[in-house]
Amino acid sequence: MNEKTVICPGSFDPITLGHIDIISRASAMFDKVIVVVMKNKDKNGLFSPEERKSLIQKAVNGLPNVEVDVYDGLLADYARQKEATAIIKGLRAMSDFEYEFQMALTNKKLNPEVETLFFTTSTEYMYLSSSMVKQIASMGGDISSFVPESILDDIVKRLGKQ
Ligand code: PNS
Repeated sequence: MNEKTVICPGSFDPITLGHIDIISRASAMFDKVIVVVMKNKDKNGLFSPEERKSLIQKAVNGLPNVEVDVYDGLLADYARQKEATAIIKGLRAMSDFEYEFQMALTNKKLNPEVETLFFTTSTEYMYLSSSMVKQIASMGGDISSFVPESILDDIVKRLGKQ
């Protein structure tokens, strides 16, 4: 059988329920989903890429066809290495579109074998982003409806230490 692997790439600093929504919908459609934390030299995150990977692993526990990885390099090369059918991205609003469209076209140029598929966000997560979560938590706000319960304490503790 021709197994279909897809990739959900991102910064995931940290993973939110919006990301989990996209990942679980992808896992229901494809044989294997690889969630990959892409390293970014220019951005110092709240969590290191390895820490983000552990948080994602905790959060996706229960989805048997989901793997988590970290990669330092081009997404197009990673997709080639993994023989991925598609890159899955979530689209929240039109404001996401221009940047995502540019990335999709660039990735297609770099690796013509891989498609980018956009999943429409579920309405309850339209406003949600990792930066919002960090801002709210750093000011003592309640982020329990924005992030998976299994990693809530990790985020609150880390922001409390800053
Ligand atoms: O969660 P984000 O920050 O929107 O994810 C962006 C990400 C990590 C998917 C994107 O920056 C990326 O693919 N980086 C890897 C480097 C790369 O391949 N750049 C060229 C593609 S345009």
